[in-house]
Amino acid sequence: MTQTDVAAAFAALEAHRVEIGHRRIVDLFAEDENRFDRYQVRLDDLLFDYSKHRINDATLAHLMNLARAAKLEDKREDLFSGAHVNLTEDRAALHMALRNMSGRGYFVDDHPIMPDILAERRKVGDFATAIREGGILGSTGAWFTDVVNIGIGGSDLGPAMAARALSPFGNAGIRVHFVSNVDGADLTDTLSLLDPAQTLFIISSKTFTTQETMTNAQSARRFVAGALGEEAVGDHFAAVSTKLDLVEQFGIRPDRVFGFWDWVGGRYSIWSSIGLALTIAIGPKHFDDFLRGAYEVDQHFEEAPLHENIPVLMGLLGVWYRNAWGFGSHAVIPYDQRLGRFPAYLQQLDMESNGKSVTREGAPVTVATAPVIWGEPGTNGQHAFFQMLHQGTDVIPVDFLVAAEPTIADEYHHALLVSNCLAQSEALMRGRSRAEVETILKAQGLSAERIAELAPHKVFDGNRPSSTFMYKALTPKMLGRLVALYEHKVFVQSAIWNINAFDQWGVELGKELCGRLVPIVTDARVSTAQLDGSTAGLIRHRRSFANPGA
Ligand code: F6P
Repeated sequence: MTQTDVAAAFAALEAHRVEIGHRRIVDLFAEDENRFDRYQVRLDDLLFDYSKHRINDATLAHLMNLARAAKLEDKREDLFSGAHVNLTEDRAALHMALRNMSGRGYFVDDHPIMPDILAERRKVGDFATAIREGGILGSTGAWFTDVVNIGIGGSDLGPAMAARALSPFGNAGIRVHFVSNVDGADLTDTLSLLDPAQTLFIISSKTFTTQETMTNAQSARRFVAGALGEEAVGDHFAAVSTKLDLVEQFGIRPDRVFGFWDWVGGRYSIWSSIGLALTIAIGPKHFDDFLRGAYEVDQHFEEAPLHENIPVLMGLLGVWYRNAWGFGSHAVIPYDQRLGRFPAYLQQLDMESNGKSVTREGAPVTVATAPVIWGEPGTNGQHAFFQMLHQGTDVIPVDFLVAAEPTIADEYHHALLVSNCLAQSEALMRGRSRAEVETILKAQGLSAERIAELAPHKVFDGNRPSSTFMYKALTPKMLGRLVALYEHKVFVQSAIWNINAFDQWGVELGKELCGRLVPIVTDARVSTAQLDGSTAGLIRHRRSFANPGA
């Protein structure tokens, strides 16, 4: 099939939307008592419910046709085979190999990579165990009580999100902290809680050049050297990177350096040694379970037929709303407090991957790509932005995530949590009509005049779509599954849009301009003449305050 076939499939999808656009989800349920059973996929104890969508069988047929026209299955095969799917960086994207739990061989440029992966996985596990069990101590002979991961983007969000999600599986004796922002407040506030003699810093950076991480790393180094002496630094630092030469220059001992490879994208690196802080937090056995959950999703993604394939369905539903309906935003609402950082993690995963406007071949894309991904845990979101989800002028499809059982929490709290989650997806779908509102207000004894005034404010359009992921409990394995499902969803969408999900050139310009501004911001004598009027004006304004450098 060709790009013409893809364009034709998009056109057919659009025509189908016009045809069924007036259908309401509640009516689709009324017509088919088996809708919930038909529009769901189970993966062991995870249920993916996609029945509350503006779809029927014809919609799914159109979406599958689009997937085939875009050669999704061929592209998936390329991904798993180690082809250089990251065209602009001429690299494979083989994060699936990092969680491979079978005897399957993975190859990069004909070189088998599983032996190195397994060796590094063992090394991380052994080091984590030694830190957890007192086999490795600080320079004064004290046990480590605190571990600080210094990294940003993919070198922070994954382990930070997962350490919080899996905190019940942690070791009470070790606290794990994450410092990412170049804003010194991040490091200072963290250090204020810590005893340097009992703190291990892990510098996590794929490139080991990232401004934020290297600045925080140098400041942390001064913190340790200032308190314990220069010779103590080696005992209090470890590093995770692909640039082993740069790590050595920083002065981290070779036996404390954990590697990974350029075919692991930053935002796909949680499965690699970047998971070191997480492994220390939850232990190697739980980290293995986390990998296993993702491995099972890889098998599902590779083997399940398209119409029963959860990441394929997630991706295609997203395409349906983004391209046929023009919805520009997608909310992910975990009814799971410990998944508080999951939306932020998904923001990088999705928007850094698919926030592109040229095709793999470099031509302008002809359809909209990544929507805005955002979210916060329920029930808190209900008291903040749900008003807009229910009555705002934009329709925002939602993913609800909820555990059937609490990991550690009172059963009654959890029953309330689940009820809230289900009530919100139901309310978004059902809405409340003008007639229903009038009946309710009348029963309350309001006058006809008052009813006429109030009714428009109390109407809910409804017909707002959502998926629900209900899983037994948020275990390491389940978290691994959830993350991998979203990774492959992002890949599916990139395949449909024919974009490269594995590069991120859009972050470079800001970095470059920042490099040019640092000398001007730090030294008030440097001229602002070559800058644009606004940037120069803001710098002059800053200089008008009595700050150092100003
Ligand atoms: O934000 C750009 C980016 O390159 C991300 O892709 C990456 O995850 C992050 O910076 C951190 O990069 P590094 O691990 O090399 O420090």
